[in-house]
Amino acid sequence: MKYRSVAIDGPSGAGKSTISRTAAGRLGFVYVDTGALYRVIGLRCLETGLLDLEEIQLSMKFSGGEQRMFDGERDVTEDIRKHEVSKAASDCSALPEVRAFLLDLQRDLAKRQDVIMDGRDIGTVVLPDADLKIFLTASPEDRARRRVAQLSQSGDAPPYEQILQDIITRDHNDSTRKEAPLRQAPDAILLDTTGNTFQQSVGLIENLIREKLGV
Ligand code: DC
Repeated sequence: MKYRSVAIDGPSGAGKSTISRTAAGRLGFVYVDTGALYRVIGLRCLETGLLDLEEIQLSMKFSGGEQRMFDGERDVTEDIRKHEVSKAASDCSALPEVRAFLLDLQRDLAKRQDVIMDGRDIGTVVLPDADLKIFLTASPEDRARRRVAQLSQSGDAPPYEQILQDIITRDHNDSTRKEAPLRQAPDAILLDTTGNTFQQSVGLIENLIREKLGV
């Protein structure tokens, strides 16, 4: 049986993960957050100062719509969200060996179930034949405001100006790197969520998926 796949790409903080997770829950798809894979590698590099891919035993478990991330036995789901891991993940994601290491893992996930997969290169590299591709973006200021609100819930919130600067730097790194840079696939639908409420954005994505995939 062929499973259906939706690729959602875009810069960090555009709301991809929360929007995709909610839409997936409503439509009965599995939501796969591929940034979390790069974050596990980033966390490992940050903690050990080494990039030894053979040592990393990356796995993910899905339960009740939640994706938990493991490095060996260790559950790193919370640790990979720390602010300093974002930069490390971005740095690691520029390395061809890291991207190659994660490519089959991501494709396998889409072969086994209906997925909404979010990342930076899902529509362009990982799932070029996805049934629907969406490029989700928002202004850097809008994304920085959302990120501050998100981080302040976990008590780990740097000031707005720093977050904004980090977002601008990370966008630049992610879109100018040689390997699988962040860019909109020619057949992706562009969705700019600047100024939208969360519910409006979820509704837009849900409608696009229902129309295109007939679910
Ligand atoms: O979406 P995120 O912020 O959790 O992603 C962390 C980093 O991983 C981000 O800097 C870009 C990178 N990434 C990538 O290069 N390709 C993906 N498919 C997903 C994330």
